[in-house]
Amino acid sequence: MSDYFAQVQASAARYPDRRSAVLEALRLAQERHDGWLPDEALREVAETLEVTPAYAKAIASFYDMLHLEPVGRHLVEVCTNLACALVGAQRVVEAFESGLGVHAGETTEDGGITFRTVECLGGCGYATVVAVDHRYREFVNADDVPRIVTEVRGAQS
Ligand code: FES
Repeated sequence: MSDYFAQVQASAARYPDRRSAVLEALRLAQERHDGWLPDEALREVAETLEVTPAYAKAIASFYDMLHLEPVGRHLVEVCTNLACALVGAQRVVEAFESGLGVHAGETTEDGGITFRTVECLGGCGYATVVAVDHRYREFVNADDVPRIVTEVRGAQS
C-alpha cells in the first residue's frame, strides 16, 4: 500500500482540494487490483484521500474506464452512442455477441475477453468505433468483427 499511498498523495498535492485526485487514485487502484475496483480498492482510495467509500464508488460508477466488476484479460468495447448508432453499431454489437458467444456486459467463460457497449469514445467522425484493450478501431462494420475476434482470441495465447 505504501507505493500506492505515496503516488496518490503526490497526485493530491497538485490540487487545492484533495478530492480532485480521486480519479487518479481510482485508476491507480484499478491497476493494483487486476483491472477492476473491488470494495477493498474503494476503501483504499477513500482512506488515502479521506473521502467516504461511497464517494469513491460514485465517481467510479460514472466513468466507463473504471470497472466495478471483474473484467477479462482483454476488453472489447463498442460505442453505441448516436454517431456510431447511425452507421450500424447495433449490428457490430450483435456480430461480437455471436463471435464471442457472450452478451454485451459479459465475459467469456474462460475469463479471457470482456465484451461491452460504451458511451461515446470521442471518435464520432470514425464511427463505428471499437476499442480493443483501449486501442481504437475505426469505421468498424459487422463484416470486420470476425477478424477482430480472431485477433483478440489469438492475443490470449
Ligand atoms: S458516438 Fe461513437 S465515438 Fe462518438
